[in-house]
Amino acid sequence: MKPLHAEKPAAAALSLYVETYGCQMNEYDSGLVCSILGEEGFDSVPTPEQAGVILLNTCAIREKAHEKVFNRLSALAHLKRRNPGTVIGVLGCMAQNLGDDLFAMGLPVDFMLGPDNYRELPRVIQNIRSGAEAGISITQLSRSETYADLAPRVVSGCLAFVTIMRGCDNFCSFCVVPYTRGRERSRSVESIVSEVNDLVESAGVKEVTLLGQNVNSFRFEGLYFVDLIRSILRETSIERIRFTSPHPHDFPEELMELMAAEPRFCSHVHLPLQSGSSAVLERMRRDYTREDYLRLLRTMRNMVPDLGVSTDIIVGFCGESEAEFEETLSLVEEARYDMAFMFRYSERELTYARKNLPDDVAEPVKLQRLERLIEVQTRISQAKNADLVGKSYAVLVEGRSRRSALELMSRTASNKVVIFPVPEGESPEACMGRTFEVVITGSSAATLRGELRQPVGAARD
Ligand code: 5AD
Ligand code: SF4
Repeated sequence: MKPLHAEKPAAAALSLYVETYGCQMNEYDSGLVCSILGEEGFDSVPTPEQAGVILLNTCAIREKAHEKVFNRLSALAHLKRRNPGTVIGVLGCMAQNLGDDLFAMGLPVDFMLGPDNYRELPRVIQNIRSGAEAGISITQLSRSETYADLAPRVVSGCLAFVTIMRGCDNFCSFCVVPYTRGRERSRSVESIVSEVNDLVESAGVKEVTLLGQNVNSFRFEGLYFVDLIRSILRETSIERIRFTSPHPHDFPEELMELMAAEPRFCSHVHLPLQSGSSAVLERMRRDYTREDYLRLLRTMRNMVPDLGVSTDIIVGFCGESEAEFEETLSLVEEARYDMAFMFRYSERELTYARKNLPDDVAEPVKLQRLERLIEVQTRISQAKNADLVGKSYAVLVEGRSRRSALELMSRTASNKVVIFPVPEGESPEACMGRTFEVVITGSSAATLRGELRQPVGAARD
């Protein structure tokens, strides 16, 4: 939709530009922010130059995330010089984490709000504009705020995200999330089901990803995560459900039974490993050993045929020896993940590790370990994808291929990306959000190529 205020400079005060850093939960939170300010008459604009209010929704999880935001704020300083009425706010984990320290850095920031304080936005913007307040920082964590009454419709084509719980009580020793997002709290099953129904009925969404820092801790009035999935399956007509992320230490196996039985519940699990060494896992306060993790993975794969598995891994954590790192390499060889997000450890404010464990693996060693790990995982991804050539899958079309207008980008239930040609007699637009049966004809480490076998459920609505 074309923003109205592009032609109406008088409305610039009510024009909003939000930039999102970090995880999918932040994407969702930016949607919350847009709906809170939308109620006040704000409209989104595509560039900061057009906006009266610029918001950066930030992430604090790793070093690079911080740096990116500092650089971006410096780059936005000229807009404030040109128009001092422009309001710039920093939201999210970095605001929560740095608080007033950010004001001391000489960056063009009028206010900061932590993840539990977004309802304050209209008042804060108004007070800054009226001159009643300056340099506002509100970073009060809440035990109950879930924004359950807001339905932000965070939709990208036929896909959408829904946050089902906020915060984390796990306190892994490397992780800042419990300090920036606060304690665990879950939304009501009813509000989640109604949000999914709204996404299906009003926005044509086919696939929803349920988000939480630790979805196995979902609890609402005696109901567990698996009960939530059952309710969504029963009470909505969403075609596909995904979720991220669970924690390996209290993983509900019942969930895998449901996944095996129910084709709408996609056969993919993102199961963060962090390290393949039990000693490192203990220092990380992860509450499981290498053996526990491998046992869980075996059980899952036995229960769900064709299960896609991805993970997160950190290298160079405090005290990680060469032998401990090699345990991570050997676990990765054994686990044969489809995909992995791999990071080098960066010390974070407030965490147990920062306070108690020396960050003593040299930076070049961290980098070298990361490269070695990426090399192993890339080889495994390649080999696993090559094994799929000749097999058939039902794939949901998400968009056009980035490389060619004549090809479509789709995904299997197990979360593999499949590129295939626009079927004859169809336009790419008409294929969006539809499911097709494809046979895999080629592969690389990141994607599969396919050819159409036959459309599944050819009816378009
Ligand atoms: N350093 C490096 N990686 C981290 N992660 C979380 N905290 C840190 C840190 N301090 C990674 C973990 C987590 C993912 C979201 O980010 O692997 O699962
Ligand atoms: Fe961070 Fe651990 Fe919570 Fe994940 S489970 S958000 S790594 S503290």
